[in-house]
Amino acid sequence: MLEIQGLSLGYGGAAILRGVDLSVAAGQIVSLVGPSGSGKSSILRAVMGLQPALAGTITAGVPRDQIGILFQDDALLPWRSARDNVALGLRARGIDAATRGRTADAFLGKMGLAGLEDRFPGRLSGGQRKRVALAQVMALAPRLILMDEPFGSLDAIVRHRITQDLLVQVEGQGITVLLVTHDLEEALALSDAVYLLSSGPDAHIAAFHAIDLPRPRNLATVRADPRFGPLLARLWADLSAVVA
Ligand SMILES: Nc1ncnc2c1ncn2[C@@H]1O[C@H](COP(=O)(O)OP(=O)(O)OP(=O)(O)O)[C@@H](O)[C@H]1O
Ligand SMILES: [Mg+2]
Repeated sequence: MLEIQGLSLGYGGAAILRGVDLSVAAGQIVSLVGPSGSGKSSILRAVMGLQPALAGTITAGVPRDQIGILFQDDALLPWRSARDNVALGLRARGIDAATRGRTADAFLGKMGLAGLEDRFPGRLSGGQRKRVALAQVMALAPRLILMDEPFGSLDAIVRHRITQDLLVQVEGQGITVLLVTHDLEEALALSDAVYLLSSGPDAHIAAFHAIDLPRPRNLATVRADPRFGPLLARLWADLSAVVA
């Protein structure tokens, strides 16, 4: 579903990362972990065609309009209601206004935001805004979703709930996900594989772990799997080596 080969990216002629190979099979959730500034967001931008590659190739198994992206920063329009923010992407697909509104409300409902459809982003909590952004992405029925630290700023309970809801939807619909996160436990709990990027400049893939924990997963119980602890310890050791 996503194949990145020999990717080098840079700004102003200077490379920030080189020779990155990364692949995500259809229906997999794959995490990309790495120190701040190593180039994780840049890789996602390159996949979306928002940043040119210095070298290498990126091949997606679906056209770009079937790729959803959840940016690191909240990308909601403050002058539009939650409903209109979610409906916005549907308008580009030529769907009529009434259907857009109904679809937006349905997806907001799935995210636990029923009753808040008319609120503007400024009057929603951070977690609610994240859920609106997620509804916006899911409403477009993407086959591949790129997520950049989507839940970084949320408290542990809200984060757990949103992540578990998302996991159910993604597993249920066979959606492919490339997830950027700083959270090794989250990466392990959600993923089929974890790629570790070294620190920049000249970042590269420093480690790869296939995670063969069973699916469907439950975030609350997967941590009790006897394989979870040893896998986490190996990820930590790799990350510590990379940061050192
Ligand atoms: N527009 C830009 N112009 C110049 N340099 C940039 C630009 N955007 C990012 N960089 C640099 O490229 C490197 C990678 O940035 P990127 O945002 O991809 O890192 P990241 O891994 O996503 O970090 P974080 O975990 O902090 O989000 C950083 O050193 C950053 O300073
Ligand atoms: Mg980033």
